[in-house]
Amino acid sequence: MSRKKIVVLTGAGVSAESGLRTFRDSDGLWEEHRIEDVASPEGWKRNPELVLDFYNQRRRDVLNAKPNKGHKAIALLEEKFDVVVVTQNIDNLHERAGSTNVIHLHGEILKSQSTVDAKLIYECEGDILIGDKCEKNSQLRPFIVWFNEAVPMIEIAAKEVSLADIFIIVGTSLQVYPAAGLINYIHPTVPKFLVDPNVPDVSHVRNITCIAKKGSEGLPQIVEVLLKQV
Ligand code: APR
Repeated sequence: MSRKKIVVLTGAGVSAESGLRTFRDSDGLWEEHRIEDVASPEGWKRNPELVLDFYNQRRRDVLNAKPNKGHKAIALLEEKFDVVVVTQNIDNLHERAGSTNVIHLHGEILKSQSTVDAKLIYECEGDILIGDKCEKNSQLRPFIVWFNEAVPMIEIAAKEVSLADIFIIVGTSLQVYPAAGLINYIHPTVPKFLVDPNVPDVSHVRNITCIAKKGSEGLPQIVEVLLKQV
C-alpha cells in the first residue's frame, strides 16, 4: 500500500525554540527593523549595506542554532509517510533535523545570489559584504525572497498541498501571502492540524484541529498519534 502524503507548512514559530526570533511576536524582528528597509528591493537599492548587515546577523544566528523537538518530530514522520515540508523559514533547521524534502518559499540564508543572473546561487556561510561579486562580476545579495518579489516555489508548493492526505500548520501567523493562501489548496475533507501557542484565525477552515501549544510540545504529540495510526 502506498504511503500517505503529509504536507507541513511551517513559519518562524517552529524555529523560535531554537533561539531564532520570529517576526510578529512582541519581541519579533519587525519590532526592531522596518520591512521596507531590510527586506525589500527598494531597501536594497537605498542602502544595500543595511540589508547585508541584517541578513549577516540572521546567518550567524542560524549557524549558532540547533533543530528543536518540533523539527525532529516532523522529520520522524518520514518513517511512515511521504512528507513535504513547505517552509517560510530561511534557516536550515528542518534539513538538519533530518527532513529530506523541504521547499523554501522565502529563500535560504545559507546561500547567496547574483544580482544580474538569478540562476547564479552559491553556498554562503560567512558574511556577504559590499564588493563580494558573482562570477559575472555583480554584487552578491542574500538568496532571500523579499516583499514585492515573486515567490518562485509557490506553484510547486501549491501542487504538493493539493495532493496532501494530511496537512499540518505550525508556527506561522498566516499573514503573508501567497504562503498563507496555500491553505486554500487543501481539500476541505483532508484532516488538518495547527500547532501554535497563539492560534491564528482559521475559523474559515474545515476539518482542522488546533493545538494551542509550542511546536516542541504539540508536534511530538501529533506525530505520535499519526505514526501509531499506520
Ligand atoms: N511554537 C510554535 N509557534 C510559535 C512559537 C512556538 N514556540 N512561538 C511563536 N509561535 C507562533 C506565533 O504565535 C505566530 O503565530 O509563530 C508565529 C510567527 O508568526 P510570524 O512572526 O508572523 O512569522 P511567519 O508567519 O513565519 O512570517 C511569515 O513574514 O516577514 C515575513 O518572510 C517573513 O517568512 C516570514 C513571513
